[in-house]
Amino acid sequence: MLSVVGDLLLEALGESAGSLLAWEPGEAELLLRLTERGGELTWVEDDLTRLNLVDDLRGEQRAFPAEAEWERIILRLSKDRERGRRMLGWAAAHLSKEGELLFAGENKGGIKGFGKTLRSLFEEVENVSRGHCRLWRCRQPLAGSTPPTEPEAAYEVEGIGTIYTQPGVFSWKHLDNGTEALLQWLPNDYADLRVLDLGCGAGVLALAAAKHGAAEVVATDSSVLAVESARRTLSDYPNATVVSANVGEDLSGSFDTVISNLPVHEGAQPSHRLGERFIEASHRLLKSDGELWVVFQERMPFEETLQRYFSEIDWLDAPRGYTVARGVKG
Ligand SMILES: C[S@@+](CC[C@H](N)C(=O)[O-])C[C@H]1O[C@@H](n2cnc3c(N)ncnc32)[C@H](O)[C@@H]1O
Repeated sequence: MLSVVGDLLLEALGESAGSLLAWEPGEAELLLRLTERGGELTWVEDDLTRLNLVDDLRGEQRAFPAEAEWERIILRLSKDRERGRRMLGWAAAHLSKEGELLFAGENKGGIKGFGKTLRSLFEEVENVSRGHCRLWRCRQPLAGSTPPTEPEAAYEVEGIGTIYTQPGVFSWKHLDNGTEALLQWLPNDYADLRVLDLGCGAGVLALAAAKHGAAEVVATDSSVLAVESARRTLSDYPNATVVSANVGEDLSGSFDTVISNLPVHEGAQPSHRLGERFIEASHRLLKSDGELWVVFQERMPFEETLQRYFSEIDWLDAPRGYTVARGVKG
């Protein structure tokens, strides 16, 4: 069933023909209905796990869509406000003169607060509300709308180096408290070791391993924004590679060490299933006697999963709210 946001978008689109860019449309049902409309449809997602929403329809994994002029763009509100602004700036700069942007989301995600940004980008801005949702219809991009060109963000982690990030990446403005708690415990000598950073975000944990002499570091994430950022973070280390993968699928070979700050959301929804899959994948990807170093929010039920897969576990001191552990594969 179509959500209220999907319904608003579809209704606003009406029978209009021409090229349509569906940028992170957020639900399978909406995509299916869009394919039924006919006309040229391009579907873009940042995160590869969302690319299999619909069978027989191929989406593209990209941070920003291909350079082109679009007649219609539909855009779903992003979790991160700054990322949302950048997407809107890009849309205004790539919409044809007669084109239209339809931007929708739930009130609880902050959709109502985008009026000022939209009016700075478009001559004509209208909105429709339904239930707890809103749709913005934007036409006539203002001359001089330029795609977002702000530099990537960066922050320093003492003793490790510079982390390059961008809006939309996990904890993109500063070091996450959980990551910091894990860094306190990570070994400072990885000589001869092959290390995997599973769910690498901007690559903080991978950089720690590279800095401390790992023979090879592989960092992986499902988000292309994270992958781009981690590549930049690790660019001084030729023995580090960053790959886009769903929970480490298709990675080759096995690892001496896996390090991970376990995710607690799947898309926008809180979930513990994803963290459990991270633990299962770590076990599968480790050599025997290999070590998993993890941090997670202590309210998450991962202790039992760790005990199921790892024969020896050390529970390490961590600040309130976090659990840090080292597990050895038996
Ligand atoms: C808690 S964050 C940790 C990021 C980074 N390691 C850090 O400490 O700053 C979890 C990361 O897992 C990634 N992730 C979520 N689902 C994933 C999946 N199915 N496969 C791979 N990575 C995923 C997220 O994009 C996010 O970057």
